[in-house]
Amino acid sequence: MGMIMAITGVPGTGKSTLADLLGERLGWEVLKANDLVRERRLWTKKERGVLVADMEKLARAIASSIARDKDMILEGHLICDIRIKADAVVVLRTNPNVLRKRLMARGYSAKKTDENVMAEALDYCTIRAEGKYPRGKVYEVDTTGSLNRSLLSIVAIAKGKGKKFFPGKISWRKELEREALGVK
Ligand SMILES: Nc1ncnc2c1ncn2[C@@H]1O[C@H](COP(=O)(O)OP(=O)(O)OP(=O)(O)O)[C@@H](O)[C@H]1O
Ligand SMILES: [Mg+2]
Repeated sequence: MGMIMAITGVPGTGKSTLADLLGERLGWEVLKANDLVRERRLWTKKERGVLVADMEKLARAIASSIARDKDMILEGHLICDIRIKADAVVVLRTNPNVLRKRLMARGYSAKKTDENVMAEALDYCTIRAEGKYPRGKVYEVDTTGSLNRSLLSIVAIAKGKGKKFFPGKISWRKELEREALGVK
């Protein structure tokens, strides 16, 4: 049986970067949810220039792309909102202050940046993933620091040695309080 590893997290936390590196390192196929949505036209409408995915169609497209006998990495922020046949779901977490810089460097609007930074500060993806997937399948990896360190953490999870990455250790509460109080 192959291993299906899902990588999720809010935009800018490093899903695509790490999925590609992990795919190269382990020789596993990488499937990107955003590519599926675009290539197979799995959207319902466009909102502010962004495609809104049809989550049911996406879930079905992912299910039919998973080969039982093959190792695979599935990457996308939408994956924390659907239930797929994953053996491990890794939620990437980035300190909101660092995430803000990454998103602004991408040229995101202030509104879009704020929305995503706030989602990260409020543990959005972890909470969603824990609601969709059983305990023991969900992991969190901090992607605030070095890329290589984050990669090693995900490699450990892929090899079944990821217990220390079970959720609960990462909290941006201090950053959140500062943000709420408007302290810069
Ligand atoms: N530890 C780290 N892990 C992952 N990415 C990192 C890390 N440190 C810095 N980065 C950088 O952060 C950026 C993450 O961008 P990336 O496109 O991979 O994010 P994403 O989660 O796929 O976003 P989106 O949901 O918009 O597709 C990259 O430029 C990457 O080099
Ligand atoms: Mg990406």
